[in-house]
Amino acid sequence: MNRYSDGDIAAIYRVIEQRRDMRHFLPEPLEPALLQRLLRAAHLGPSVGFMQPWRFIRITDTDLRQRIHALVDEERRHTADALGERQDEFMRLKVEGVLDCGELLVAALMDRRERHVFGRRTMPQMDLASVACAIQNLWLAARAEGIGMGWVSLFDPEALGALLGLPPGATPVAVLCLGHVPAFYAEPMLQQEKWANRQPLDAMVFENTWRHEDANPA
Ligand SMILES: Cc1cc2nc3c(=O)[nH]c(=O)nc-3n(C[C@H](O)[C@H](O)[C@H](O)COP(=O)(O)O)c2cc1C
Repeated sequence: MNRYSDGDIAAIYRVIEQRRDMRHFLPEPLEPALLQRLLRAAHLGPSVGFMQPWRFIRITDTDLRQRIHALVDEERRHTADALGERQDEFMRLKVEGVLDCGELLVAALMDRRERHVFGRRTMPQMDLASVACAIQNLWLAARAEGIGMGWVSLFDPEALGALLGLPPGATPVAVLCLGHVPAFYAEPMLQQEKWANRQPLDAMVFENTWRHEDANPA
């Protein structure tokens, strides 16, 4: 039969529900075989035209990690400035664990992507969507293995690309903090910190046509 066992199905939904974006880590490194399993899970992700546009750079040099952290911190300050009235609230949030996590990866889009037209002629950004699918696979596999992951997008991609020697056309997409964690947050940290709440599913699902919000709700 095509269907998984009830226990397997429950595990899939559980890992989806319990995956969290993590920013608090323990310093222990990841076991190499475990990291390899996680990267393989990422590599099994779907991709537009099967182009497999993801590239992962392991950051093992401590000085380089510090420099990546400096870029993230710089962008964190720019973000705070751009936020206006929520600036102070944002600066109090923990938005990355770059220096604390056991393993640091940078996920990037490969160069020479213009050769891949299948599924991208009208929407070239489907390459980015494909990398995101790979990252989500990694995230879910990590959660099942008891490993936390934080997706950090606070950086100037040109500066990070230059730091990592990316070829022209390639671009970094995510700094991924991976590692053992003291505990997984019970709900999104941004919800715990009252930055935002998960919206009801009903507000996201429409039928046949876009449901425009009432401009003047009673
Ligand atoms: C594309 C993307 C970029 C993100 N960038 C950051 C980031 O720079 N810093 C951060 O703290 N969290 C980042 N996150 C994590 C989100 O804040 C998190 O997914 C959201 O708050 C929901 O929490 P959850 O993932 O635990 O369900 C990012 C998530 C995604 C999907």
